[in-house]
Amino acid sequence: MSAQRIRPATLSDIDELDALEQAVFATDRISRRSFRSLIARETAETLVAERDGRIAGYGMILFRAGTGMARLYSLAVHPDHAGQGIGRQLLEAAEDAAYEHDRLFLRLEVREDNSGAIALYRKMGYRAIGRVADYYQDGMAALRFEKVLRDAARPVIAQTPYYEQTTDFTCGAACLAMAFARFVSPDYLDPVWEVRFWREATTVFMLAGPGGCEPYGLATVATDHGLAAEIWCSSESYLFLDTVRDPEKRRVMELAQTDFRARALAAGVAVRHRAFALDELRDNLAQGRVAIVLVSGYLMMGSKVPHWVLAHADDGRHIIVHDPWVEEERGETAGDAANIPVPYAIFDRIARYGRSGLRAAVILEGKTAHV
Ligand SMILES: CC(C)(COP(=O)(O)OP(=O)(O)OC[C@H]1O[C@@H](n2cnc3c(N)ncnc32)[C@H](O)[C@@H]1OP(=O)(O)O)[C@@H](O)C(=O)NCCC(=O)NCCS
Repeated sequence: MSAQRIRPATLSDIDELDALEQAVFATDRISRRSFRSLIARETAETLVAERDGRIAGYGMILFRAGTGMARLYSLAVHPDHAGQGIGRQLLEAAEDAAYEHDRLFLRLEVREDNSGAIALYRKMGYRAIGRVADYYQDGMAALRFEKVLRDAARPVIAQTPYYEQTTDFTCGAACLAMAFARFVSPDYLDPVWEVRFWREATTVFMLAGPGGCEPYGLATVATDHGLAAEIWCSSESYLFLDTVRDPEKRRVMELAQTDFRARALAAGVAVRHRAFALDELRDNLAQGRVAIVLVSGYLMMGSKVPHWVLAHADDGRHIIVHDPWVEEERGETAGDAANIPVPYAIFDRIARYGRSGLRAAVILEGKTAHV
């Protein structure tokens, strides 16, 4: 039986990597010089699959500084060893390396005509998120794929059920439904409750469409229906008005927010007017609470809209998040959006919105937990 292992590449592998590159790719090859600099680079990881002491394949990932992303820069298996599971093992090793580097996603581009590699990526749980025309030297288009990274050996056992929002504007209400399901009853995981919570907590308008929710509205509805709530909000001003030009819309939003503030105050909801620190969130999660947290939608759904997600657990390195938004057009399923392990540093970066870096969260727990 042949001996096989996967290990990090070293500079002494360059001759073999170069030969492999020539054997596998007709265009867009990585040069010896690039191999040399990529192997040495801190922000790249090159893994080789050895079979009987020879390199049978390699995979390379790049880490872009300041993002939650790792990119599969190259994956190749020598034709003599194709179809033996080496490509899959290299890809798994690359995913593990990206996860260990605190990345949230692994992304890759693949030639549109490369049906073998596309089959491998689909089988490994990647979903197509876009197409880039004229990407390769010969003019071929690329398909872009993405996968949320998780620890396969330690799946999250969530106490909080997941619920997918059924409209574009009910993210906050869907988070409330999940919190109620955690503390009261799974019956709340229902579009009737989702829309009711939204009607009760909406700011009426937001951006172009119907209004989303703001923290005082969410906290008011939570307490009205029997949860204990606390608001953390870095701004004392009315929220989400920057992009609203129509004065009448602004007036209505301000009235709705005035009402929510008065009701939250009357209900005894504590409000902290400062940006929360990650450790404060972690302390609250450790005490069995959950948090509806405002994020810039950027990482989660590729656009900069205010968005609410539910932070419900902490594994010591990640905040575990239920994102109620499932991007069906990009092939996402509820399985992708539930229990997303967001590395601490990335969570800290995405948990803010807009130019002013508004930081907001509503901390929730069952009322009986107090006594
Ligand atoms: C794509 C590549 C890395 C796959 O490596 P491999 O070791 O042959 O793949 P594996 O044996 O691990 O295959 C794993 C799965 O991928 C899929 N797959 C791989 N090659 C396939 C092919 N040619 N046609 C259809 N499915 C294929 C299969 O689903 C397979 O699972 P199965 O064996 O249970 O059917 C390899 O063919 C290669 O180096 N190709 C040329 C370079 C390249 O295209 N790189 C990707 C650039 S983005």
